[in-house]
Amino acid sequence: MGSRFASCRFIFYVLLVSQCTHTNCIREITEKTWKDANKEASDLQQTAIDDDLQIFFTVDDLKVGKTISIYFPIKDPSTTPHLLTREEANSIPFSSSKLPQILDFFSFSKHSPQSKAMQYTLSQCELEPLKGETKFCATSLEFMLDSARGVFGLKTKFRVLITKYLSSHNAVLQNYTVLDVAKEIETPKMVACHAMPYPYAVFYCHGQESDHHRVFEVALRSGNDGERVEAVGVCHMDTSEWDPDHAAFRVLRTRPGQSPVCHFFPADNLVWVASPALDS
Ligand SMILES: *[C@@H]1O[C@H](CO)[C@@H](O)[C@H](O)[C@H]1NC(C)=O
Repeated sequence: MGSRFASCRFIFYVLLVSQCTHTNCIREITEKTWKDANKEASDLQQTAIDDDLQIFFTVDDLKVGKTISIYFPIKDPSTTPHLLTREEANSIPFSSSKLPQILDFFSFSKHSPQSKAMQYTLSQCELEPLKGETKFCATSLEFMLDSARGVFGLKTKFRVLITKYLSSHNAVLQNYTVLDVAKEIETPKMVACHAMPYPYAVFYCHGQESDHHRVFEVALRSGNDGERVEAVGVCHMDTSEWDPDHAAFRVLRTRPGQSPVCHFFPADNLVWVASPALDS
């Protein structure tokens, strides 16, 4: 079994920044540690870090006809890690304290970039949630669904929102025009799951009550070459507790608590929201 996983191509150049736009990361990851974790990847990832940070926008940007400069990373199916079944995932240790065994299992050396990326993921998964926040790491879809059910409660149906590229897509910074009135998703809670760098599919998921954020679906078209993207974005309405050094404030030229901070999700993120009530 080990060789099967070891042979799969490993994406450690997943954009770590996309996992770090939330208060969770803000507390623990400074820009510096972000860069350290990503340094190994910089040979593979030619895109400048400044471009990668270009996922932020403001509520005002969502007006029809407005232009937002955004970097949507590309998801390469050939390097996307395999999803494991819950049984498979449970048979492999997943904890920082078991790192030597895990590295052995996947035949990675202790000082490899893969090892560093895996340590990063494990440490993120082991952080305590912030007050009022739910957080879990899912090593299988079954676990993710069960955990999301735990967040929404047994009575609430939920569904997934994903950013979709509706045409061929170049992962470069582009100016996108808002085509339509942004569709606000009514949901009492949300759980955002971010793909993490790991030899198999691991998602870092965290959930919040909705009075602190608004979820939108936005139709965008690139002015550069007409690319269409149906983007899922979230606006964090209260940023007063955020680290003043958070990249979002630099990009949006604002300060903690001064105005909401919004960002789009890349296409490999899963955003769980309550389903609209249906007449039965
Ligand atoms: C986006 O538009 C701005 C303002 O017109 C321009 O300065 C910038 O170069 C454009 N960016 C891209 C990637 O085309």
